[in-house]
Amino acid sequence: MTARHDRFIAMKLICLLLLWGVISGRAQDAAIQRSVDSLLSMMTLEEKCGQLNQIPANWKDGVSYLTDEGKEMVRRGQVGSLLNAAGASSIREIQRLTVEESRLGIPLIIGVDIIHGSRTIFPVPLAEASSWDPELVQKSARVAAVEASAAGIHWTFAPMVDIARDPRWGRIVEGSGEDPYLGSVMAAARVRGFQGTSLADPTSILACAKHFAAYGGAEAGRDYNIVDMSERTLREIYLPPFKAALDAGAGSFMSSFNEIAGVPSTGSKFLMTDVLRGEWGFKGFVVSDWTAIGELIPHGVAANRAEAGALAINAGVDIDMVSKIYMDELPALVRSGKVSPGTVDEAVRRVLRAKFRLGLFTDPYRGASTERERKSILSVDHVKAAREIGQRSIILLKNEESLLPISKQTKTIAVIGPLADNKDEPLGPWHAGGKAADVVTVLEGIKSQVSPQTRVLYVKGCEIEGDSGARFVEATLLAKQADVAIVALGESERMSGEAASRSNIDLPGVQRELLKQVLSTGTPTVLVLMNGRPLTIAWEAAHTPAILETWFLGVQTGNAIADVLFGDVNPSGKLPVSFPRSVGQVPIYYNYKSTGRPFDELNKYTSKYLDVTNTPLYPFGYGLSYTTFSYSELKLSSQKIPPGSDVSVTIRVTNTGRRKGEEIVQLYVRDVVASVTRPVKELKGFQRVTLDPGQQKTVTFTLKPDQLAFYGLDMKRVVEPGMFKVYVGGNSVDVVESEFELTDH
Ligand code: GLC
Repeated sequence: MTARHDRFIAMKLICLLLLWGVISGRAQDAAIQRSVDSLLSMMTLEEKCGQLNQIPANWKDGVSYLTDEGKEMVRRGQVGSLLNAAGASSIREIQRLTVEESRLGIPLIIGVDIIHGSRTIFPVPLAEASSWDPELVQKSARVAAVEASAAGIHWTFAPMVDIARDPRWGRIVEGSGEDPYLGSVMAAARVRGFQGTSLADPTSILACAKHFAAYGGAEAGRDYNIVDMSERTLREIYLPPFKAALDAGAGSFMSSFNEIAGVPSTGSKFLMTDVLRGEWGFKGFVVSDWTAIGELIPHGVAANRAEAGALAINAGVDIDMVSKIYMDELPALVRSGKVSPGTVDEAVRRVLRAKFRLGLFTDPYRGASTERERKSILSVDHVKAAREIGQRSIILLKNEESLLPISKQTKTIAVIGPLADNKDEPLGPWHAGGKAADVVTVLEGIKSQVSPQTRVLYVKGCEIEGDSGARFVEATLLAKQADVAIVALGESERMSGEAASRSNIDLPGVQRELLKQVLSTGTPTVLVLMNGRPLTIAWEAAHTPAILETWFLGVQTGNAIADVLFGDVNPSGKLPVSFPRSVGQVPIYYNYKSTGRPFDELNKYTSKYLDVTNTPLYPFGYGLSYTTFSYSELKLSSQKIPPGSDVSVTIRVTNTGRRKGEEIVQLYVRDVVASVTRPVKELKGFQRVTLDPGQQKTVTFTLKPDQLAFYGLDMKRVVEPGMFKVYVGGNSVDVVESEFELTDH
């Protein structure tokens, strides 16, 4: 028996003990560390650098595979991870080749962008954030993990936790909107869903918090553009969701393409080592974004690939996604002393530790099989979960004269628009293994729920973009025959997501004209929006009696929307992003600073525009219901709060309407005077409350001392005494107000 064989037996035994939970906690870490060190001691420098090299799988006829070159790299131990492979049988074959035909047989870790579902596609993350329901969001991520792991995937490049205040930026669709608190809650929920209670569980997949950091702050909303912000804004607004993901146990991070104030993230020691590992104690690994290490050259901070590789590895980026710089350049960099062997060893340890935690040394296949995959995807429970979160992701923006809900006995319903019977766009960007055939369209959803006597008429009316308007006449004729018109308008899924910034965020093409034609018939009209970002819909909002914001809801789009249209579900969604009146207002967000000349409608010499008011068309946290709610009796535990004490906040919420409904009660705080300027409002808590007609409930929040902290003049976290405003309401504008003084002793 070779020494290597004995060592592997020992490692397998340790992994089985880990899997059985016989050893846990510190003992587990120590056991893994011993196995990692033992394996590391057997590796050549080239094999170590190979563990830090990630290559993409190829695809042909819907099957992922490795090219001959890729197979040879794997056999030579030059590949540690693979991205974009999927399918249990093809992944099993790739892993077999790795463990049986390479010298040390170290299994690959296989990652895919499982962003909002694997085969059962859920609402896009921005839609899920609109539910303000972390339990449902966690469930969505759990379903995604169960389906992805069945297909042999070990790791997802999610959650994307980038704060976005600029709807021109297409990737706003992939995150949880503009607020650090909501973004943090959603980030943690997704990590818990993906990783489950143990990474050794074969249904768990490793999460990856991305894109570290501040990618959403791209200047002018233009993807990949520079980010130039203060460290205070970075820490107050953009970093909290990453810290929340880490605190929830995220096993990996992804470095972002952008620079921050002159330093590209992928070469930033401040971010990848000082903050992530030094301040936050992160023990996982960092993967670069796609070719981001090579992009340090066009960024202008590396003259060649070797310099780029040295900069990235020394900053703390462990895995090189696709640029092959670590494989090609790192061994020579170590031998020439430009990179210390210890730096490479530490990066390899982090990667190997993750592979041990995933149980890959126990079972490199983690039980993936075509049978398990077949049973898992699109199961009844998974599809039901997609419908449920779809329902809760829908936001009622307007409902004049209670046009909604409409009766299932309506005599004639006209369904119009390029998104009304569309199976492709509702999957949204980053739809992994999702298939258009799995999608229930708006038209199908409506038809499945109306009475047998109801006539449902349909016409597309126009394309999403371009179009001569030649079919307007047909749409108008149809609308004239109907008792109500449902007009489904919006964006194509490729108009948001990566490399999809828009300078004009109106409804594309001639869709507004189509809506005008339908409205001109006088038929009561409901606008159903399907889009990946806030749109400038001031005209639509002024002229349409009812509007639903549905984003892209995935496979259950039509059923979820019909559930709300016909009132089986009372909508409870709330905006996670502000809707601008004009793109000229962007960036626009609720937690803005007062300035020395705060906006005053009547005073020219205040911070404002000549041609549009400052307020958004629809504010952060906004969403209506088929019932109404009132807020009263806001009470605080005391008007004077000693330092270090909690503040209890209670509010009475009443259902003042005629239908049962759910309300997301939101708590905001303002630090009125501090040593640095503070936002006019900051979300500090929210709770869902369900009320029958006329029912009242008292909702209690506990404001913890640290929730009043901010980064002071010296950039250290501080809580300062003084006056604080407290606001509670159903959105960030319509609130009831109180205040307390935080005393200094
Ligand atoms: C892309 C994206 C990133 C994704 C990665 C792998 O460029 O920026 O979000 O995870 O490449 O597909």
